[in-house]
Amino acid sequence: MKFFVDSADVKEIRELSELGLVDGVTTNPSLILKSGGSIADVTREICSIVAGPVSAEVVATDYDGMMREAAFLGGLADNVCIKVPMTFDGLKACRALTAQGRKVNVTLCFSANQALLAAKAGAAFISPFIGRVDDIGLDGMELIAEIRQIYDNYDFGTEVLAASVRTVNHVKQAALIGADVVTVPPATLKALVKHPLTDKGLDAFLADWAKTGQKIA
Ligand code: G3P
Repeated sequence: MKFFVDSADVKEIRELSELGLVDGVTTNPSLILKSGGSIADVTREICSIVAGPVSAEVVATDYDGMMREAAFLGGLADNVCIKVPMTFDGLKACRALTAQGRKVNVTLCFSANQALLAAKAGAAFISPFIGRVDDIGLDGMELIAEIRQIYDNYDFGTEVLAASVRTVNHVKQAALIGADVVTVPPATLKALVKHPLTDKGLDAFLADWAKTGQKIA
């Protein structure tokens, strides 16, 4: 399973990247706003840190506008993956950009049928939003499982990128179902290492070690 960081915070991305935890990055207009930087500067800088795909999202809602913005965003770095919304114009742009050799991430996916359309448009990634499905009282994980099954039924190459991840349990569930990628906010990614018994066990080992009076190196 690949780990993407769902953030436009360059400092956090650099830190996680140094830990070897970053296979790619996803941004969106809200995350660019939060970063306080320009989409061009932030995207370029992230692409200089991370070798894997870095999703940058178009904001035009018509095909021509999306293609214009995709040309600009794609010109920022070779590893920019163009993020388009789940609309007919977005799917048309997905097909055209894919034909140009660009990776496309179709975002704002909330149904298995939408995921089917993205795969047929040749998307590199489909982004089902788990947390937002849970928010309206439905089951985001059920959506991931449905998409996994449909893609496997037909051997679609589109990768299932579990997005809108809010908890460490989302990460575990997505992994159990077989999502190809999970995009995770930095704090949640860091929380994956935590377990109270790990902390307790380490404290006990260190206390006993101190009593030995030894040094390893
Ligand atoms: O990857 C999409 C993600 O950023 C949306 O997350 O928490 O705003 O639903 P959230």
